[in-house]
Amino acid sequence: MLILGIETSCDETSAAVVRNGKEILSSIILSQDALHRHFGGVVPEIACRAHLESIIGIIDNALLDAKIPLDEIDAIAVVNRPGLIGSLLIGVTAAKTLSMVLDIPFIAIDHLHAHIYANNLESDDIRYPTISLVVSGGHTILFLSESETKHIPLGWTIDDAAGEAFDKVSKILGLGYPGGPVIDRLARQGNHRAVKFPRAYLEKDSLDFSFSGLKTAVLYYYQGQDLKSSKSKTVSNQDVSDIAASFQEAVVDVLVDKIVLASRMYNVRGVLTGGGVAANSRLRQRLKDKSKELSIPVYCPSVRLCTDNAAMVAGLAYKKYLEGDISCLDLEAIP
Ligand code: KG4
Ligand code: ZN
Repeated sequence: MLILGIETSCDETSAAVVRNGKEILSSIILSQDALHRHFGGVVPEIACRAHLESIIGIIDNALLDAKIPLDEIDAIAVVNRPGLIGSLLIGVTAAKTLSMVLDIPFIAIDHLHAHIYANNLESDDIRYPTISLVVSGGHTILFLSESETKHIPLGWTIDDAAGEAFDKVSKILGLGYPGGPVIDRLARQGNHRAVKFPRAYLEKDSLDFSFSGLKTAVLYYYQGQDLKSSKSKTVSNQDVSDIAASFQEAVVDVLVDKIVLASRMYNVRGVLTGGGVAANSRLRQRLKDKSKELSIPVYCPSVRLCTDNAAMVAGLAYKKYLEGDISCLDLEAIP
C-alpha cells in the first residue's frame, strides 16, 4: 500500500511516499529556517504563507522522487494536530483536496504520535509497552505507548519545551536560530561541568518538566560574564562553549532521569525517542549508556527522522489504516 504523507505543522513543508508503513520511497523536506532566522523564532504568518507557496511543488517532488504517479497512491495522510493553526490548515486542505479528487482514504495524524513512529520506520524489534519521549521545539512529553497507535500521556512541560529552551539560550548567547544544532556542536568543545545550572525535577516522582528557570539562569549567568569581561568587551569563545555544554547537560540530565524514572514506574520493554531534540548527540550518547543500566533497548531515530518530516506521518497512517481508523473530510485542524 502506498501512502502520500504531508506535514506542515510548524516550519517545515514536507511530503513523502511510504510503502506499507516501512519503506520510504521519497521524503522531501523544505526547511523555512532561513525565513525565520532573522526573527529568532518561527513567525506564524510567515510560516503559513511559505507553506502555501511551496506545498504543491513539494508534493510533486515527493511523487517524482518516488517514481510513483499520483493515481497509484492508495491513501493520503496529513498532520492535523497539534501545531500552528495557519500552517496546519495548508497541509490539511491539500490532503483533503487530494483525497476528494482521487477518491482515496484521508487519514489524519497526531504530530507527536508520528514523531514516535519514526522509530518504527527503522526498527523491527520494538516491544511494547514503551516509554516514549517526544522532545521538540513545541513539546516535551512522556507517553506510555501500548502499540504504534496507542499513546497515553504521562507528563509534559509546564512551561518551555526543551527545544524552545535550546532556541532561547542560543538567542541569549548570540548563536542564531535554530539553537539546538549549534549548541550541540559548540558543546563538544565546552566543559559541561563549568557552570552548575539548576535542574528542575519538580515534585518527587513527577514526570512533568520545566525549562524556563534554566533558561533564565543562563541569561543571568551570561549577563554576569559579560559584565566581568567588559574590559575586553567580549565573552571568550571558550566561555560560550562552556555555557552551551553546561546548559545542554542540565537539559539532558533531566530528560534522561525522567525517562529512567518512568521506565521503572511502568516496567516497560523499551524506550522510544523522537522530535528535533532527540537529534542531540549528548542526549543520544547518555541514553545509549542508560540502555545498558536499564537492560532495555533505547531507540533514537536517525537525525533526518528526528526533525519534522512527512515519512513518519505516512508510516503511522498505514498502521491506522489497518486498524480502520480513517478520518472524515470534515475533520478540522487543531492547534
Ligand atoms: O521536531 P522539530 O523539527 O519541530 C517541532 O515539532 O518543534 O524540532 C525542532 C526543535 C528546535 O527547537 C531545534 O532547536 C531542536 O529541535 N533541535 C535540537 C537539535 N536539532 C534540532 N536540539 C538539540 N540538539 C540538536 N542537535
Ligand atoms: Zn515536530
